[in-house]
Amino acid sequence: MKKDFVSIKDLSKKEVEKLFLLAEKLKQTRPRYEKPLQDKTIALVFEKPSLRTRVTFETGIYELGGKSIYLSPQDIGLGKRESISDVARNLSLWVSGIVARVFTHQSVIELAEYASIPVINALSDLEHPCQAIADLFTVYEKFKAFKGLKFAYIGDGNNVCRSLMLLAETCGLEMFVATPKGYEPNRSSQLTTCNSQLLNDPKKAISNADVVYTDVWASMGEEAEKEKRLKIFKDFQVNSELLKYAKPECLIMHCLPAHRGEEITSEVLDSKNSIVFQQAENRLHVQKALLTILLSSP
Ligand code: CP
Ligand code: NVA
Repeated sequence: MKKDFVSIKDLSKKEVEKLFLLAEKLKQTRPRYEKPLQDKTIALVFEKPSLRTRVTFETGIYELGGKSIYLSPQDIGLGKRESISDVARNLSLWVSGIVARVFTHQSVIELAEYASIPVINALSDLEHPCQAIADLFTVYEKFKAFKGLKFAYIGDGNNVCRSLMLLAETCGLEMFVATPKGYEPNRSSQLTTCNSQLLNDPKKAISNADVVYTDVWASMGEEAEKEKRLKIFKDFQVNSELLKYAKPECLIMHCLPAHRGEEITSEVLDSKNSIVFQQAENRLHVQKALLTILLSSP
């Protein structure tokens, strides 16, 4: 039976461990490739812009022996030119997998429901599971364990935050989230069981933290709210003042793209404790592991 990766919840703890092991091996052995995607084509259906996700998926698919076809919003018109269910059923006739970046999480759920091939969520308004997997793989590389670590997320309770919370739960990582009031990651559905601590005080969340993570205050699709959010979020900027409350060796993470001077200062983003480019690099290795697990022939 095909397996999708629409939400972090689609992977058990055992599957996450297997994925991390394979990602580690693929990273060490690059560029000596096995070709588990030989003769397979993967469609990349993107409704929003992307640098990291698109390039790491296309490069990863190529390195695994497969071929990618990038389909921009103009090409498909998901749910506009054609219904999502028909797009899913058509793609299933020709290609072996779908990687989809969508506005509404429901769209990726619907693609997965109607496609007979694996569907991978490459970011929706609700989750960014490929990002979270690469991020916690990066944390694991640094600390070799999750137990005993304090991971703080400061800023908007958005897609990245939700996927990190769900994965922190799976991995046994203690996570503290600080958002302005009204911008908490909603506690609906799967997040209701999450044991992360939700706060509205960034100093409290960051206190004694081993890792601090932030992301943009207005995500793709929320651009109209940017000015309003700049005011609401101003006390949530990750800067050297706030970092005084964290451990001195605290690592800095950001999924990128960063809005320098808004959610994070350049001083912090470019500091020696910043591991943002290691996160970006690991997107490639982790997604290659994911593609291998979901798409290689039995
Ligand atoms: N972090 C991330 O997903 O970056 P892109 O939006 O550039 O793909
Ligand atoms: N939260 C951001 C992440 C970008 C990778 C967004 O959705 O725009």
